[in-house]
Amino acid sequence: MNNSIELEGVTKRYGSVHALDRVDLTIGSGITGLLGPNGAGKTTLLRILATVLAPDSGATVLLGRDPAMSDDRTEIRRRLGYMPQEPGFYRNFTVFEFVDYVGILKQITDRSQRHDEVRRVLDHVDLTEVARRKIKALSGGMRRRLALAQALLAHPDLLLLDEPTAGLDPEQRLRFRAVVSQLPNRPVVLLSTHQTEDVVALCERVIVLASGVVRFDGTPMTMTEAARGRVWTATEQDIGALLSWRMGDGKFRHIGDPPAGAAQAEPTIDDAYLLLAGRDALTVAS
Ligand SMILES: Nc1ncnc2c1ncn2[C@@H]1O[C@H](COP(=O)(O)OP(=O)(O)O)[C@@H](O)[C@H]1O
Ligand SMILES: [Mg+2]
Repeated sequence: MNNSIELEGVTKRYGSVHALDRVDLTIGSGITGLLGPNGAGKTTLLRILATVLAPDSGATVLLGRDPAMSDDRTEIRRRLGYMPQEPGFYRNFTVFEFVDYVGILKQITDRSQRHDEVRRVLDHVDLTEVARRKIKALSGGMRRRLALAQALLAHPDLLLLDEPTAGLDPEQRLRFRAVVSQLPNRPVVLLSTHQTEDVVALCERVIVLASGVVRFDGTPMTMTEAARGRVWTATEQDIGALLSWRMGDGKFRHIGDPPAGAAQAEPTIDDAYLLLAGRDALTVAS
């Protein structure tokens, strides 16, 4: 079985906005982070991979199949789990009913087998106790977990998670990491985020997207190393820097092209992210 996704020259435009501009990617098993500021094109990319949206041009092969072909698309949908950034829930469904309904859409036709699977995923995200509660009566954190639970149904080979940690408190975030890092059978997991901590904690590979273009593709460690030699500190602010800010100890940290003799600092993944995504990244960080 071919467990990978391949994109070649994938482009999606909204009017004059290039949400994705000739994206080439091959992604295999394991957790890959899709890191980028707001408006980078992350959701557009995940929607294309979830077969919700078709690209304007370019080729896509998902799990060895062509999403433009109806039979292939059905097969892809059976094998994928998608946690949208803003799930449209049926507010009057109970938690159990909603996940059961997604199971029906995924064509798990045997009722008792499907119900077992619903109970398994609800237990996995710790929602068993509210299984009979209506969705409209859930807290925000519970809704995020419900969105994750339905994506985990039937052990997908391709798991797409759009900003899954947004709005979670630190404890919920740890629980989320535990669930995603311990999935059996090593599915292809693509997780979008604008937080570098998620990438460091979970991802073996990181793709930085900005303005619809892939700016970096590699390990979190190589990403950090890409900033080496481009970070320095000084007692005075250097206006030649791309970006600079005052740290807790009163010194200024700068990124960009350091002047001769600058005191170089150890780079972090945040420095690398700022260098790659530029000012767009700051609008999210602030
Ligand atoms: N349905 C849409 N109609 C018009 N513009 C859109 C639509 N969806 C996304 N865009 C635009 O495409 C760009 C990428 O958006 P999106 O994929 O949502 O980025 P991200 O998820 O990284 O924040 C943004 O400029 C956004 O405003
Ligand atoms: Mg988005």
